Amino acid sequence: MKKRWMTGLVVLALAGTVALGPRVSGAATGQDNAAVQFGRLAVGEHGAVVSVDGHATRAGLEVLRAGGNAIDAAIAVGLALAVTHPQAGNLGGGGFMVIYLADEDRYTTLDFREMAPAVAHAEMYLGEDGRPVRGVNYVGWRAVGVPGTVAGFEKAHEWGRMDWADLVRPAQQLAADGFWVDPYLAGSFRRVAPTFQRYAGSAEAFLHPDGSPYAAGEKFVQPDLAWSLDQIATGGADAFYRGPIAERLVAAMEANDGLITAADLDNYRPVEREPVRGSYRGWDVISMGPPSSGGTTLVSMLNILENFDLEGADPTGAPLAHLMVESMRQAYMDRATHLGDADYHDVPVDWLVAKDRAVELAAAISPDTARKSADLGAAILTAPESPETTHYSVVDSFGNAVSTTYTIEAGFGSKVVAPGTGFLLNNEMGDFNEWPGMTDERGYVGTDPNLIAAGKRPLSSMTPTILARDGKPVALLGSPGGKTIINTVFRLVVNLVDFEMNLAQAVDAPRIHHQWMPDVVRLERAFPTGTADALMGMGHELGTGRIQGDAHCIWIYPDGARLAVADGRRSGSAAAY
Ligand code: DON
Repeated sequence: MKKRWMTGLVVLALAGTVALGPRVSGAATGQDNAAVQFGRLAVGEHGAVVSVDGHATRAGLEVLRAGGNAIDAAIAVGLALAVTHPQAGNLGGGGFMVIYLADEDRYTTLDFREMAPAVAHAEMYLGEDGRPVRGVNYVGWRAVGVPGTVAGFEKAHEWGRMDWADLVRPAQQLAADGFWVDPYLAGSFRRVAPTFQRYAGSAEAFLHPDGSPYAAGEKFVQPDLAWSLDQIATGGADAFYRGPIAERLVAAMEANDGLITAADLDNYRPVEREPVRGSYRGWDVISMGPPSSGGTTLVSMLNILENFDLEGADPTGAPLAHLMVESMRQAYMDRATHLGDADYHDVPVDWLVAKDRAVELAAAISPDTARKSADLGAAILTAPESPETTHYSVVDSFGNAVSTTYTIEAGFGSKVVAPGTGFLLNNEMGDFNEWPGMTDERGYVGTDPNLIAAGKRPLSSMTPTILARDGKPVALLGSPGGKTIINTVFRLVVNLVDFEMNLAQAVDAPRIHHQWMPDVVRLERAFPTGTADALMGMGHELGTGRIQGDAHCIWIYPDGARLAVADGRRSGSAAAY
């Protein structure tokens, strides 16, 4: 297996020379002359960064080259994405980091998921008729959870090496000086413009004075966001949660019948948590535990699949797709039944990821016949989630590794901006189960673990993950995509471990999604049609395939070379030196 890794490196290193960028000078690291690569693939011996956006990737790389570590760079990338990728990059949202700290030889995770404000309760989105009022938990001021990103980044910075203000500065400059809107962002702006027009703060921050959206090629300057970042550069998270930014947020909440108070902001806390751990055919899987469902569900699916011999299997053939779908069916039913914020509800993680349980679950899978989801338990349909969130990965020359996924939930979150702040607020309250006790085929899930409560964190699917060998990080994985996220990472692990694909092949390979209910398999288009036919022959129902995820990942070779691969499905940019 080792030999194939090395072959992969040679091939990719050659591919990478196409993307060889100019030498960048001026960084004070003693590595000034190291060649920098930018592109879809980038290989370097010191450090690597990959994200959805080139400005953010560059910000992270410059931090590494200036002597910062992967934690510093991850903070700089996250802040820059808040400027250049407002669909998901954020100051007003939350997320998770899975981190390897080389000095301490230890893995940890940081939970900076949003929290429900103090007024929140299980029935807050129900109208007088006892049914949910449509859209209130999705768009507008009452959909917003208390943001966690700025506090999370400040906490992560306890492991950093560079001054905080130097990590904020690249983002602040991008906001103040502006950047050219690319066609991808212009398309997103065009689609969201009618909603932004309904909110004065959002229109002011994101539209021209006549209400039209920015088009591709126009320069987009964000003075209010630059002000917010300036406050954060000088005042840290305190400026956001207790200082001048908090004042503007609370004033807007009061003026718009929002939920969040000064006390809610003051009470927000990020939490360092133990990772969820598993193993898959000799590899270690280190991932995110509750309040994300990601790591638990991922490890549980891998445990089930491990019971099948995949020797000689075709990675895009029906027999493997079937086994993966049956693993997903089980694990997503468990997700809907058991997962939520473990600070509020007893989540049986150890039982869910136990190997002996997986042996029994695997024995219930026929090699060639689809089961019916309804036969596995009571029918629960899980509500659709929108396709915006973003994942990025960073590795430094010290050996630290940071796998981050963060979000404002929907594309552009709740669509609201507190006047004068320049950043979008999340609609993460919509990730809670909104209708207690109601679980039905229309998509409501009313199970207890994820009901709304004051201070609670809504269940997430985000799955930032590190795959390790002999205790050391080898692959940094993750993706956006709502409930598809966990299956995207599942697929990446199978591609890398079972099929020994190099990282670029693993990222490119077509993906599969099934989430127990609705009982439908979705294949990305690159699957051979014969696979879809064979799956239907086994009794699976096939839904319309869509693009699944946007996985910006890094691989660390045995000789220490770092390969960053940007997923080509949306946009993306890798850099290494
Ligand atoms: O936390 C979650 O799982 C969702 N709020 C993430 C939403 C998402 O991934 C949309 N993605 N592309």
